[in-house]
Amino acid sequence: MKSSRIPKFYKLSVKERLDKVVEYAGLDENEKRLLSNLGNLDIKIADVMIENVIGGMTYPFAIATNFLINGKDYLVPMVIEESSVVAAASNAARVMRRDGGIKSIATDSIMIGQIQLVDVDNPYYVKQVILEHKNEILKIANEQDPILVKLGGGAKDLEVRVLDTRVGHMVITHLHVDVKDAMGANAVNTMTEAVAPYIEEWTGGRVYLRIITNLADKRLVRTRVKVYAEDIGGEEVVDGIVAASAFAEADPYRAATHNKGIMNGIIAVALATGQDHRALEAGAHSYAAKDGKYTSLSRWEKTDDGNLVGTMEMPMAVGIIGGAVKVHPIARIALKILSINSAKELAEVMGAVGLAQNFAALRALATEGIQRGHMKLHARNLAVMAGAKGELIDKVASIMIKEGRIRFDRAKELVEELSKSRNMPE
Ligand code: MEV
Repeated sequence: MKSSRIPKFYKLSVKERLDKVVEYAGLDENEKRLLSNLGNLDIKIADVMIENVIGGMTYPFAIATNFLINGKDYLVPMVIEESSVVAAASNAARVMRRDGGIKSIATDSIMIGQIQLVDVDNPYYVKQVILEHKNEILKIANEQDPILVKLGGGAKDLEVRVLDTRVGHMVITHLHVDVKDAMGANAVNTMTEAVAPYIEEWTGGRVYLRIITNLADKRLVRTRVKVYAEDIGGEEVVDGIVAASAFAEADPYRAATHNKGIMNGIIAVALATGQDHRALEAGAHSYAAKDGKYTSLSRWEKTDDGNLVGTMEMPMAVGIIGGAVKVHPIARIALKILSINSAKELAEVMGAVGLAQNFAALRALATEGIQRGHMKLHARNLAVMAGAKGELIDKVASIMIKEGRIRFDRAKELVEELSKSRNMPE
């Protein structure tokens, strides 16, 4: 019997670990070679980014075009495994260039750290005690990160909440920290850990958790756009998109997919720029449920002149310093392509991409359906897999679409037939 218990696995070199896994899983030479290819990431960097590294996995890096945001043009890097997303974003952005493009404004980069205090009999009294120490708490927090403070950031405010839980009252201190150009988890977590013993001392309670919240509701991006009916197939399309939006606003089942469409764009940019995309997902979905019922993050409405306007408000905790942004060379190149100067600007771009992506999905759903576009790409993929090259790819794909037979066996037949007829003397 094979055992997954491998003592000191973490102490082995990348190569030694890979050898162990190759043997364990019976990988062949080709599989081993593929896995050990780190592409554009240095093995030394990979080995310190996470633990137990044995290789790499490359995703495509693409560019969405046409984005005009706050009057500035952007080429938007996207990394994603799903076809159609990049094309959809580019197409949406093309009809969003009028009137100066998409407007997107991010708030200051305020993240919240939580300190959980338990074993308190008189939580409201304790709450007041903590609030009375506000200046000291902010001072202790700020001593942890003089550089951030020098840049104008740092702990700025405090909030204290009493929670009634199934294991009794808890007093939760929220530390509001302006993290400037960082995502902020490190800075905030360090601060909450430093403050915690003092809170215990002043209150006699006991602190357990000291950690950032991903419900970053003080670090929001607000995005809006106007799309002209004449650019998207007329008022009927506008009505369809408005109805789709109303559906998502009213129904959590639909809202989940509606918001997934928004995150298709946001996460693709997050991956390209080395962001903590799990934090972004957590922030988005918790914000969508902040009023007690999960709903859509965006709204689409019809104006009195028959056009379409879209708005979106959501947390956007992104950074341009620290974390993977700092160590992954491709993330740095992505930021260079974006020509971004601050985390706030990156948040604004990502909000715009999310809203554009959402529009593209709703437009397709409200008209021809999502499958046609997907099928086009799927057909091209099959053609390539079947050996088509150059012009033949589109030829094979379009025949399969016309026939309504988008299958690998048909792609192979067509490649053979068409290659033969091409090679025939005139
Ligand atoms: C697919 O990745 C995303 C969509 O399902 C989004 C939506 O339904 O709005 C098309």
